[in-house]
Amino acid sequence: MAQGLRKGLTSYGDAGFSLFLRKAFIKAAGYSDDALDRPIVGITDTASDFNPCHGNAPQLIEAVRRGVMLSGGLPMAFPTISIHESFSHPTSMYLRNLMSMDTEEMIRAQPMDAVVLIGGCDKTLPAQIMGAASAGIPAVVLPVGPMVVGHHRGEVLGACTDCRRLWGQHRAGRIDEAEIEVISGRLAPSVGTCMVMGTASTMACMIEAMGLSLPYSAAIPAPHAERLRCGEATGRVAVEMARRQGPAPKTLVTPASIRNAMVVLQAIGGSTNGLVHLAAIAGRAGLEVNLEEFDAIGREVPVLVDLKPSGDHYMEHLHHAGAVPRLLQELEPFLDLSAPTVLGGTLADYLALAEEVPGQTVIRPRSAPLKQTGGMAVLRGNLCPGGAVIKHAAATPALLKHEGRAVVFTSVEDMTNRIDDPDLDVTADDVLVLQNAGPKGAPGMPEAGYLPIPRKLAGAGVKDMVRISDARMSGTAFGTIVLHITPEAAVGGPLGLVRDGDRIALDVERRSIELLVDAAELERRAAEFQPPRPAPKRGYAKLFHDTVLQADKGVDFDFLAGED
Ligand code: FES
Repeated sequence: MAQGLRKGLTSYGDAGFSLFLRKAFIKAAGYSDDALDRPIVGITDTASDFNPCHGNAPQLIEAVRRGVMLSGGLPMAFPTISIHESFSHPTSMYLRNLMSMDTEEMIRAQPMDAVVLIGGCDKTLPAQIMGAASAGIPAVVLPVGPMVVGHHRGEVLGACTDCRRLWGQHRAGRIDEAEIEVISGRLAPSVGTCMVMGTASTMACMIEAMGLSLPYSAAIPAPHAERLRCGEATGRVAVEMARRQGPAPKTLVTPASIRNAMVVLQAIGGSTNGLVHLAAIAGRAGLEVNLEEFDAIGREVPVLVDLKPSGDHYMEHLHHAGAVPRLLQELEPFLDLSAPTVLGGTLADYLALAEEVPGQTVIRPRSAPLKQTGGMAVLRGNLCPGGAVIKHAAATPALLKHEGRAVVFTSVEDMTNRIDDPDLDVTADDVLVLQNAGPKGAPGMPEAGYLPIPRKLAGAGVKDMVRISDARMSGTAFGTIVLHITPEAAVGGPLGLVRDGDRIALDVERRSIELLVDAAELERRAAEFQPPRPAPKRGYAKLFHDTVLQADKGVDFDFLAGED
């Protein structure tokens, strides 16, 4: 197979001319023949003024370049789409597949023998791995790393678990306008990704456990010098991968590594989004995430990592406690250590590097877990024939078995307009239901599943209620919240048949959620189904609407999954 500059020549009908022209143009940038003869390592540049989480990407690119050149390769950085949670309309999830297509096609279109994927903000790493898996060349992930923690009035703060907690206090009138402004300057005190166990941290940990990134790469804080050394080492590894012509991501995304990722997802009390992204990554390798297997893992694997929102600490503390290699060591009985990694060996090599940190309490031993069972459970029932997810590690124990009256919002807009209405007929025992916030419905499956507690109840001290939807939830959020109800309301799923006043029964121990309405009445309501809005007629919105899959398939596009 052609290597380096000879790969993927532009079609002019004369291969010799294509190479001649390519060399002539790249020499305009000052490259010598010696440089152009080296293995080429592409580096994705996802720096963007709109993406503060990736604020250290330029320094990381330099570190990777250094590593590549020290190992005799030629580094070539190239831009791709960058997505930040707070700067993506309507949602970052809506754009994830676009980023994966951009990453895939730019890897395919440009001559490179291996690629370093620098990303981190929630949807970016899944998008990059999905794209690289489909492109099929050796790829190694370099997360940008988590932020360091913030401080306010003697309290340690983290984005964005504390964003939500403190905003909730502001909504309830306990924090005034002036103080919430001060807090907004202290919640995210450095570049890097959210430093709680949100989606970014969850994905970085899962990806390391899948052998797609270097040991320790998930948790080193973004501003630390060690993060740059990790970048340099990643560049060196990429050159080795280019020379060996492997392993490609599809070699690393296997049933064993997917299971290992599910074990880690449960043990870290990770983000529910991790499950959706894992399904999408698996789908690119022609595999599936088995929700029953995930639930069974959750009954067996305890939560061992004491991080917000399930616990007390932050990512920098996980790093200082021994990070993912130490966690993997503790999880050894549940893992398949024969799974291959970017280093060319197996996951057993990562465990062998684990550091024992005396006195640390962030990574618990199996004998003293943070929670006896995993962080998430998969629910079934007449409301969700395709399944639903609850992060019970971050829920109120007393609400895990609950029956209540439905208070229904038919869209995110409807919820926004009415949730704080003083006349809203709602009590703390009710079940808040949000419809039409799934992949097609919103569109883009927004993180709207964390329905706010109605202001009149929050003001009276209510901190949690059962809330259900076909939406997602930020990994930094908490509460008794059922998510990813599949199929979604907008495609005729039973969630759309719920009406105000219906009874809903949740029983997490029995893994069930049921709409207590008789089948004949549900059939009558189903016959009246109308899509919530007309289908888009053009552009990416049409592509998204026409081809997006449901949550259990990772919300990927149907034509992107599997082989060519
Ligand atoms: Fe980028 Fe949280 S906003 S990781």
